Amino acid sequence: MADTDKKKTAGEGAAPLPRHIAIILDGNGRWARKRGLPRTAGHAVGAETFRKIATACKNRGIEYLTVYAFSTENWRRPEDEVGTIMKLLGRYLHEAIDTMERDHIRMKVFGDVHALSPELQALVAKTDEISTRYEGFQANICLNYGGRDEILRAARRYAQDFKAGCAGELTEELFSSYLDSAGIPDPDLLIRPGGEQRISNFLLWQCAYAEFYFTDVLWPDFDEKELDKAIAVYQSRDRRYGRVK
Ligand code: FPP
Repeated sequence: MADTDKKKTAGEGAAPLPRHIAIILDGNGRWARKRGLPRTAGHAVGAETFRKIATACKNRGIEYLTVYAFSTENWRRPEDEVGTIMKLLGRYLHEAIDTMERDHIRMKVFGDVHALSPELQALVAKTDEISTRYEGFQANICLNYGGRDEILRAARRYAQDFKAGCAGELTEELFSSYLDSAGIPDPDLLIRPGGEQRISNFLLWQCAYAEFYFTDVLWPDFDEKELDKAIAVYQSRDRRYGRVK
């Protein structure tokens, strides 16, 4: 995208764009129910929406997009719904491999991947490997992810390294390097569509200074216009990080 286009999106003399946007995908089930469709139809449209919004973020010069697709608690859903979501994720990751190679983009999965099927784990390994080759836009999909679980996994790994004498005194920076998000900046903007106003165990450590944006729009209806609205609200915020003006 040309620089002039980027400026147009951000607005004349606007505040900087968020480097990293995080989104809690919510409202797929209600979107489907409103149309008399099974909940799983909402997830299929939701996966397409993710594809569109990831492309829109990339085109606007956003560097990182992290989405909450399946939480550690989502296993409690009916078996056929979980099965459909896993199938959609498998199809998505499979198709993403070509896009990653073509557009030189990176895609990572955050979460405890050990509980996923061997097929999904193989796709995650493949997308991880491809990601090491490129430096462009990075999409992160949170799968079997919970913020508390991530912190516990990180703490366990740090404790092991410390015991083995290969980790120094714990600092915020060092601890961050044990998280699934190691090496990437914290989200600047957290978007939650679907009408709820809570964080639901998403990126608990990383969202310490994120700006929150809530909207009633259901995820399958979330489009570029909604994305630009959220970015504009973000740009109007005064981020002080505890300082005074
Ligand atoms: C939340 O809506 C959605 C989910 C828990 C699943 C999201 C999964 C996908 C869109 C599938 C593929 C994803 C990617 C990133 C390729 P909900 O079911 O909680 O909706 P409701 O609150 O209206 O019931």
